[in-house]
Parts: sequence; structure tokens; C-alpha cells
Amino acid sequence: MTDAPFTLVAIDGGAASGKSSTSRALSERFNLLHVDTGSFYRTLTAELLRAGVQADDPVGIAQASAEVRLETALEGRRALMKINGRIVPDAEIRTSAVNANVSHFAAVPALRDALLAYQRGQVEVARAHHFPGLIMEGRDIGSVIFPDADFRFFLHADPAERARRRAAEGQEDSIAERDRLDRSRKTAPLACPDGATDIDSTHLDLDQVVALLSAHLATRLPPAS
Ligand code: C5P
Repeated sequence: MTDAPFTLVAIDGGAASGKSSTSRALSERFNLLHVDTGSFYRTLTAELLRAGVQADDPVGIAQASAEVRLETALEGRRALMKINGRIVPDAEIRTSAVNANVSHFAAVPALRDALLAYQRGQVEVARAHHFPGLIMEGRDIGSVIFPDADFRFFLHADPAERARRRAAEGQEDSIAERDRLDRSRKTAPLACPDGATDIDSTHLDLDQVVALLSAHLATRLPPAS
């Protein structure tokens, strides 16, 4: 069974670049497991903040992130992280406190290490549930997690357009500051990896972005029945 064809799709990009909506739509269209690694970093950040760990304490972050127990639950085609036996709801991982802290936590190499095997292990989760592939979104998927993915995309859009999209979602989020931190960190910085397909979505709506990426995926994957 492990020899069955399996397709890996990596989508990276900055905050509010359209990765999540695009990945969700592609996961439905091609029956792929959808793995939003931003939600993993958010879940870990929310859990550590709850335990009283501070963003300016890399040693505390390293210790605490080595101790968490991580499992995966599925909700439809979406992979949800369980941390110490609990799924932390969206309402707790998309708060302004998590928005303000997550990039600081994500810059700590030990925290990224704690997530590395878990993220790669999503392939086994997808196979065990008979998905023909997975689509994973984040900042370092095409560069670090799956540099050999079958498809690697990098989405970007003008900062003003991204701020408009976040505001339309009613979220308070300092996307420019998060991008600055994510681009400038030493470990796995946000950047378009060599060889990835770079897409500027500033003047495209969601359907157009999905159509563009679908044309690539359709060369290898049949649409979901
Ligand atoms: O995708 P989202 O904006 O929810 O990600 C939240 C934060 O998690 C990012 O700003 C980044 O600091 C971190 N992240 C990361 N690497 C990933 C995914 C997210 O560092 N692969």
C-alpha cells in the first residue's frame, strides 16, 4: 500500500496571501488531505502561552515544546492537531495574543524541530485514510519540510491587498510585522524556494488562483469524484 502513487503539494506564502482558502478549495477538488501548518504553530503558541511560557524565553519554549504530545484528528479532509489530547478550537488560536506572539515562538529552532517530524508524518496520516495525496500550506513547506514535493507554489500579494483581506475577515492581525519576523529569522525563513512556482495574487480573486493551481495539479491528479 505504501507504494500507491501519492502526490505532495506544498503552498507557501506570507500572512493573508490566500494560502488557506486556496488549499481548502484544492483539497476538495482533488481529494487531498489539507494540512495547515500555520494552525500547528498557532496551537503550540496558544498552549505555551496558556502554560505561562513567554515569547522572550527561548529556553522555556524549547523545554515546553519538547514535552507536548502531538496527535492528529481529521475533520473532513482537514488535519487537526491534538495537543496533549485536546484540539484547541479556532477561537483560541486566532486571537490577537496568538497573532502577536506566534512569529516569535516560530523563530525558536527547538520549537520548529518539535514540529518537523509531526508535519512530515502527515503523509502517513493521509495514506492511512486513503487520500491520494496531501496539500500542506505554511512558510517553509517547499523549502524545508518537503523540498521534493511534486508541486511547490509560493503565493504573494501586495501588503495593502492582504490587509484588506484580513480586515474583511474581521481579524485584528499585524500581518506586516509577522512577515517581517518570518522573513528575517535564521531558521527556515519565509522565502520563495528555488524552483517553486511564484504566483502574484494581488489582482486575482480566489477562483482565479484556484483555477491556475488546478491546471498544474490536473496534470497528475484526477478531480475528486
Ligand atoms: O499561516 P498562519 O498565518 O496562520 O501562520 C501563523 C504563523 O506561524 C506565521 O506567521 C509563522 O510565524 C508561523 N509559521 C511558520 N512556519 C510554517 C507555518 C507557520 O513559521 N510552516
